[in-house]
Amino acid sequence: MSFIIAVDGPSGTGKGTITKLVAEKFDFQYLDTGAMYRCVTLKMINEKVSLENEEKIEEILKNIKIDLNGDKIYLDDTDVSKRIREEDVTNLVSQVSHIPIVRTSMVELQRRISEGKKVILDGRDIGTNVFPNAEVKIYLDASSEERAKRRFKQNKEKGIDIPFEEVKKNIEFRDNNDKNSKVGALKKAEDAIYIDTTNLSIKQVERKVIKIIKKKQKLIKTIDNAYVMTKDTPLKKFTHSFIKGFLGLLYRIVYRPKIVGEENFPKDEGFIICSKHINYLDAAGIILLNKKNIRFIAKADLYRFGILSFLGHLFNIIPVKRGKSDINSIKLCLKALKNKETLGIFPEGTRKGLEKHMKVKNGAVFLAEKAKVKIVPVGIQGSFKPFTRITFNYGKPINVHDFNNGDEDWLDKASEKVMNDIIMLTKEKV
Ligand code: DC
Repeated sequence: MSFIIAVDGPSGTGKGTITKLVAEKFDFQYLDTGAMYRCVTLKMINEKVSLENEEKIEEILKNIKIDLNGDKIYLDDTDVSKRIREEDVTNLVSQVSHIPIVRTSMVELQRRISEGKKVILDGRDIGTNVFPNAEVKIYLDASSEERAKRRFKQNKEKGIDIPFEEVKKNIEFRDNNDKNSKVGALKKAEDAIYIDTTNLSIKQVERKVIKIIKKKQKLIKTIDNAYVMTKDTPLKKFTHSFIKGFLGLLYRIVYRPKIVGEENFPKDEGFIICSKHINYLDAAGIILLNKKNIRFIAKADLYRFGILSFLGHLFNIIPVKRGKSDINSIKLCLKALKNKETLGIFPEGTRKGLEKHMKVKNGAVFLAEKAKVKIVPVGIQGSFKPFTRITFNYGKPINVHDFNNGDEDWLDKASEKVMNDIIMLTKEKV
């Protein structure tokens, strides 16, 4: 199973050391993406190719062979592990790495090497560009003074004698280059976890990173468990009816709900209820006020939070992962519909999707067609202000199959029809 850990940050933050340690600990493959850019740079130096010579660079990229094997880096079958760390390469690599064709080629290689594997990559743009959907994203940082001190010490140990001020200037020059590049700029991904390592030892940073990864692994396991349809135990059944009854009573007291059109529910077959999504109280109302057990489909992240995760399990909410087509979720929905269960789906995909001008999602129509079931639209009338009435106005079932004329956009058209019915039912006087 694929699991990507992206570690980004400027040089001298201990990225390489930490990443190697963590790779060993979790038995992940380690990919030093900086070393890849260094290999390209070295080859350009060897072949005396200038930064401007696009044609020659393209030729180099076509024929270059880079092998990364733990600490050992091979360029065209020669061990260059030490050579690529030397001053001439270090001084040029930042500029080489920001040549668009170099970047495109290396990013493609990084994705190819990592495909389907458990990999930890360190670099500058891994979380933002190479793997924007990485399972874990970490951004390591430290003051330039501290990073220069570390590099100066490293150099001393290797017998390299560069004055401290020069080391610092070099680091700041590279930072500037890396952060302001037009392609693959060094930037913290919005969802990356930021760690300032200025006053931390390697061990302390390692511990923090391990904790983050373990937490994410645990969360993924919890979410994956939500995909497994477990048999309802007597205890779960009891807890379910108790909580449904209690919350339902509360809902009735606060919103004095009125329910219209329940007779439109297809009898003795599975179906899908589609509603507008204003806030979580709309799903709650549909679930709590129906005798039938309605299973909503919600973003998998719901299972991240204690109480929501508990309610998700209790009401058999089907998780769906955002941003990718989630086969497991589709399978679960089809299985439930075959079992004559009722699903709840918000075609807007998110709260107030229409108001945010988002395209209506066609997942509900897709499922209805696949499972040969109907869609019941529902309009929700009211403001959800406490002690004002909320009305659930269920409409006539829609047979989406009638819209399937084989045209490419039939799913979109049928989804629009569902959404229009929902809007009409929201405005209808009842
Ligand atoms: O991590 P390092 O110092 O070996 O990286 C060498 C250079 O390569 C550095 O100046 C930034 C660049 N680089 C990059 O632009 N993108 C990456 N993913 C990795 C490194």
